Amino acid sequence: MNAINKKLLIFLIPACALLVAAWGKIGTNTDWQVYGGSVANIKYSALTQVNTANVRRLQVAWVYHAENNDTKRMGPIECNPIIVNGVLYGTSARLKLFALDAATGQEKWSFDPADSIANKTWHRRTVNMNRGVAYWANGADKRIIYTAGPIAYAVDANTGKLVSTFGKDGGVDLKNGLDRDPARMSISPTSPVMIYNNLFFVSGEVSDATPGGIRAFDVRTGEQKWMFHTVPYPGEKGYETWQDTSAYRRMGSANAWSGFSLDKKRGILYAGIGSPSNDFYGGARIGAGLYGNCIVALNANKGKIIWHFQTVHHDLWDMDLSSPPALITITRNGKKIDALAQGTKEAFIFVLDRVTGKPLFPVLEKPVHTDGVDGEQLWPTQPFPLMPKPYARQKLTLDNLNRVVSDSSYQDIKRRFLSYRSDGIFTPPTERGSIVLPGYDGGGEWGGPAVDPKTNILYVNANEMTWVLTLVKPNAARWRTNLQAGMGLYNQNCMVCHGTERQGSGDFPSIVGVDKKYTEAQFLELLSTGRRMMPGFNHLSPDEKNAIAAFILNNKTEQDKKYVGPITQTTGPARPGFNSTGYNKFLTREGYPAINPPWGTLNAIDLNTGKYLWKIPLGEFEELKKKGVPPTGRENYGGPVVTAGGLLFIGASADGKFRAIDKKTGKILWETDLPATGNATPAVYSVNGREYIVIACGGSKWGGKTSDAYVAFALPGK
Ligand code: HEC
Repeated sequence: MNAINKKLLIFLIPACALLVAAWGKIGTNTDWQVYGGSVANIKYSALTQVNTANVRRLQVAWVYHAENNDTKRMGPIECNPIIVNGVLYGTSARLKLFALDAATGQEKWSFDPADSIANKTWHRRTVNMNRGVAYWANGADKRIIYTAGPIAYAVDANTGKLVSTFGKDGGVDLKNGLDRDPARMSISPTSPVMIYNNLFFVSGEVSDATPGGIRAFDVRTGEQKWMFHTVPYPGEKGYETWQDTSAYRRMGSANAWSGFSLDKKRGILYAGIGSPSNDFYGGARIGAGLYGNCIVALNANKGKIIWHFQTVHHDLWDMDLSSPPALITITRNGKKIDALAQGTKEAFIFVLDRVTGKPLFPVLEKPVHTDGVDGEQLWPTQPFPLMPKPYARQKLTLDNLNRVVSDSSYQDIKRRFLSYRSDGIFTPPTERGSIVLPGYDGGGEWGGPAVDPKTNILYVNANEMTWVLTLVKPNAARWRTNLQAGMGLYNQNCMVCHGTERQGSGDFPSIVGVDKKYTEAQFLELLSTGRRMMPGFNHLSPDEKNAIAAFILNNKTEQDKKYVGPITQTTGPARPGFNSTGYNKFLTREGYPAINPPWGTLNAIDLNTGKYLWKIPLGEFEELKKKGVPPTGRENYGGPVVTAGGLLFIGASADGKFRAIDKKTGKILWETDLPATGNATPAVYSVNGREYIVIACGGSKWGGKTSDAYVAFALPGK
């Protein structure tokens, strides 16, 4: 090299370095590529631009109206959007998929599953639920894989057009390939698929007669590659945990509706599985019932089970695992251990070795009550982790009844309380009414926890809501008319959500007077497709559906006709000895939970030691605040995100606020009102070096305001 070239180099190298540095500053994008931020599902962002020092200056950067402010199309949006190379992909309340410039909120394209389907059999105007989408790329071929109802679509990430070579005209009907009659299946995944190489994994909300198997499909073709039987077949491990040897052919549910996490390096897929059907009466499914309520580790390429850990044996309380495990690496005696943390509805955290499934804090199998209703066989023990301590209260007692409102209100709930059975979690379901606390939705719900990988502090929001689980015996009389059959079938299939008098229960609407709203054809369509959190009922025969229609739609002529269908319900695992009267909250006359506050909390727990750092109430009631009551916390749905900037971002609360919290102290540093409650997990990303925090605000979880807005926040003038 001659002298001139050397000189040139001496000049060029620093110049290049400068250029790269400048480019880094203006050009850096930090993605939020996967639902939950990463395949480890820890909801963590390494960004620091927005931090504890400046978070008070956050402002709205943009608002996107996913349905052009069409009030008929607003409603719950539980989507945690993904951001890839500066483009945000998310869904609307109707599951329209859209791509936005993530810096401005400008729409690039949108895809409406209701409009774009060539195959008319998919053209159903049903509205289901989905919490996010997944991205896959191979060179120039970039795809969004997402589900709307029973269809998994592959949409071109550049154009928003269906990838016609995928499945049939761009979609795969998930009712197929379940090893049962597809016409009788009802499935509608609520969480996004997980991508691994050229595979995507799916499981999801199903009717009580649809199996909840976890399946892998080829991202390129839509071809089904494997299915893991969540209720094992003869010869498979776990088959012996069912007393009924035909359970694998009959049983439904036991699905991974909350999604997945993935150890890419080891090729292990993790999921938390829900309870088998029927949710509240297990006389028709005696046994521990694997893989119901299990954390499972599967070989991602083959779908073979590596290990499992059951968090509730023979579940009778709807204690589904409501979020996929968070993958972490903890430190023990100076040694690093790859682990996972599974939060539960019961408010436990199970910390397990990720490779072996062995608990890293002691778990005790403790004896529990076994005196259930006729025909029931409760499992004699349940697993209790000794650490961390539960993040919500698990027993309603005379001492913790709500005394906040007034003495007469207290006397009223005390009287009602004494009529119920309340022996803490795992109280057997009864005809008298059993208290379920921390609640059917948790405790920990689908938002799941966030974990800071630098400190192994886990942050989890929780509800403390009192519910009453009441069982009733179905009327055993032979059904002679459509009305009798309709009422019987209603009790078996619908009462659990719509209540004894069709008045609704918990979050499920009243269906009194729906005869004015639905024609028979529309009603039957709704029964087969389901809608949002209502499953489809394809397992019922046409005669059975007609009988239900006659009853619900008040059709007197039809009601009086002779019933010609099966005498008792013959399909699916329903046929229970007992039915639940609904998801009924135990509330004061004024509408507050029957337990003393806090009713919603946010918790910080050190996973290395199992100890709590802090715990705060999350959310407030204005009217109680005015009376001088300290923050009570409120019901909340949607998870937190933790950042390297020292912050925790969370919406979730029923008070409609979006908050930034100091992750070290639990102090609320900033809060703002959202257009409607943000029952979704935020996403944190940067485009051209500017950091954004975005959250979907659909509202309508508790009635009240609804919206179609995604709102993004950033610091001013950056
Ligand atoms: C798992 C709970 C669940 C079960 C079981 C269930 N539903 Fe629903 N149902 C819902 C939810 C949630 C909605 C509201 C859907 C929405 O958000 O649009 C609903 C809505 C409805 C509606 C429409 C109400 C309206 O005002 O538009 C009808 C009618 C209905 N259900 C009938 C039934 C019948 C009949 C059955 C039994 C065959 C049944 N449901 C079983 C949860 C359930």
